[in-house]
Amino acid sequence: MIHLVLYRFVQIYYEKQMVTINRTRKYHRNEPIDLMTEYTICESLASVDSPYMIVLDNPRPYGAIVGDILKSYGILTQKCTMCEVGGGYGSLMRGLLEAHASSVNHVCMIDLSRFLLERQKRVLTQWSHLMTFVHADAMELIPAISHVDVIILNEIIGDLDTWEHVTVTDMPEEVVRFVDRYGLEVPRQGAFNFNAGAVALIEDICGKGIPVFVAEHASDPVIPPDMAYLGRDLDTDGFPREIRLRGHSEYTIRFSHLIRIADFWGRTVIGGSLIDLVAVKKSQKMRFIFISRASATAEQEIILEFLDHIREYRWLAIV
Ligand SMILES: C[S@@+](CC[C@H](N)C(=O)[O-])C[C@H]1O[C@@H](n2cnc3c(N)ncnc32)[C@H](O)[C@@H]1O
Repeated sequence: MIHLVLYRFVQIYYEKQMVTINRTRKYHRNEPIDLMTEYTICESLASVDSPYMIVLDNPRPYGAIVGDILKSYGILTQKCTMCEVGGGYGSLMRGLLEAHASSVNHVCMIDLSRFLLERQKRVLTQWSHLMTFVHADAMELIPAISHVDVIILNEIIGDLDTWEHVTVTDMPEEVVRFVDRYGLEVPRQGAFNFNAGAVALIEDICGKGIPVFVAEHASDPVIPPDMAYLGRDLDTDGFPREIRLRGHSEYTIRFSHLIRIADFWGRTVIGGSLIDLVAVKKSQKMRFIFISRASATAEQEIILEFLDHIREYRWLAIV
């Protein structure tokens, strides 16, 4: 009985928390960002020399894989103009250009961090004739952008503004507008978080008709049926969850909201688990390491860490 009362008390406390907004602009603008404190899939698979390549069927840099998928769906076309927002260390674009530069006419890298833009310039010098680097906030620049054939948003939309501790009876105006216009599902009871920045950016890109590639941690991840064991203790129908990182927090993304918006705008959506996109080996060894949490050797430790991260990721291409 006492447990029930306590449980209800904690429930009421959380339901009554003030609605706040998580912003990461100050952090990205001002801090010398170290992506090694964040574990991004793009950095783990930045080059074929990475120790994480042992998890892939066909070791290939992440950027090359993204380029392959864009090409296979006719998004990366001859003389293409691309825009990557939040390109971090420039690893995705390096991998993509190493494999597909002949299809690319121009690349615009947009980032809020001057520090990371400088790093991107150094990493991409070989293709400097193709590149423009723009120091800007995506939320301000994307609405003004045109003449772009594809936009890449890799692990950036979780950094955009997220409303926290929202309830259906206490929704900020912006959230009400999105929920009503697109019929977005939200929990009827209890508090939830809402990816307002991600939703606004996707709305804007869909409205412009520009194809976009998105990859991020999902609050509603998709687990490949032949690796169902990876779904253990994972909520596949959740709402955005805070991920605390050094100096800032980001949020997982409710992908079903992005898909609803794309559908509303009559756009075609392709997507799935990042596990399938990068083609993780589907061997007994992977299964054993994950299920038994084996980490006795360096190889097992790498595999376990990678599987534990990648299972939460989804990708989408909105064409
Ligand atoms: C988590 S890092 C991901 C980097 C890289 N895409 C990867 O997958 O490794 C997020 C990136 O987005 C940038 N960023 C965050 N908010 C931004 C905004 N509002 N406008 C433009 N860039 C932003 C950061 O500076 C950083 O480059």
